[in-house]
Amino acid sequence: MHSIPTSTSYELTQAGDRYFDGLVDKFSRSLYQAPRGELRLAMLDYLLPQMLHLTEQPVLDVGGGLGQLSGWFAQRGHAVTMAEPSQDMLAHASAWHAERSAEGAWPVDKLRYLAAPLQLLPQQAPGPWPLITCHAVLEWLGEPEQAVQTLASLLAPGGQLSLMVFNRDALRFSNVVKGNLKKALSDQLEGKGKRQRLTPISPVTHDEMCQWVVNNGLVMEGVAGIRIFQDYLRHPSTERSEQATLLALEKQYCRQDPHWRLGRYLLYTFTKPEADV
Ligand SMILES: C[S@@+](CC[C@H](N)C(=O)[O-])C[C@H]1O[C@@H](n2cnc3c(N)ncnc32)[C@H](O)[C@@H]1O
Repeated sequence: MHSIPTSTSYELTQAGDRYFDGLVDKFSRSLYQAPRGELRLAMLDYLLPQMLHLTEQPVLDVGGGLGQLSGWFAQRGHAVTMAEPSQDMLAHASAWHAERSAEGAWPVDKLRYLAAPLQLLPQQAPGPWPLITCHAVLEWLGEPEQAVQTLASLLAPGGQLSLMVFNRDALRFSNVVKGNLKKALSDQLEGKGKRQRLTPISPVTHDEMCQWVVNNGLVMEGVAGIRIFQDYLRHPSTERSEQATLLALEKQYCRQDPHWRLGRYLLYTFTKPEADV
């Protein structure tokens, strides 16, 4: 069973996962109200239509957080089921969606919500789903490989999984750039998931991802780096024109070797092969 923490406990669940209860303000301030959150959304807006076959098919958004990605799909005509175990995040997301829907962004019935962790989705939202998204969630789990297995089991044959993970190799590199040399040398990079810290507890490497998808019968169709340059800037600019140039650079090199490999996040498209006939 997965215990749901209270809004102030900031503890891991029994499964070793970090639900974001009590983190709405911190998460929204430090990511989505900052240029890096803006860049992440701009890159997803650029990459997802290239990396996925979008046909207004139903979407399961796992660990949907504040609901930006669910909203993105609803706006493009998809029926979205957003699953999220943190009551705080879910309440925030659904209130924001209701506002957007009242403004005419999408019909009110485009979104439904499940207050559930990934591990309970085989019972609560078995699908199978033609499209599943799970962005920036695996790194907050005690057992990220098991999560890949669960996600694979929820996919329909021929269905696609858009998976975005926090890149362990980029975390090492950014620690070095910031001068945290001893930390990098000892390779003690992961956070503990306590208090309001947002250093992920299970950052993932590309090599691990390659292994896990093969183990679970998925095929890697594409990979891109998100924030390949931004986190390494010595003098981040607040000028809009500079930020636009940085976005152009990120777009130009996000799928090119070697740059994608040091993206703060790695964005993958995995497909479940059609069953043999
Ligand atoms: C960094 S946020 C990412 C939110 C959103 N997907 C995004 O990209 O902005 C991580 C989310 O994973 C959720 N989470 C933690 N453990 C989970 C689990 N076992 N199943 C599903 N979601 C989980 C957290 O509550 C949090 O909302």
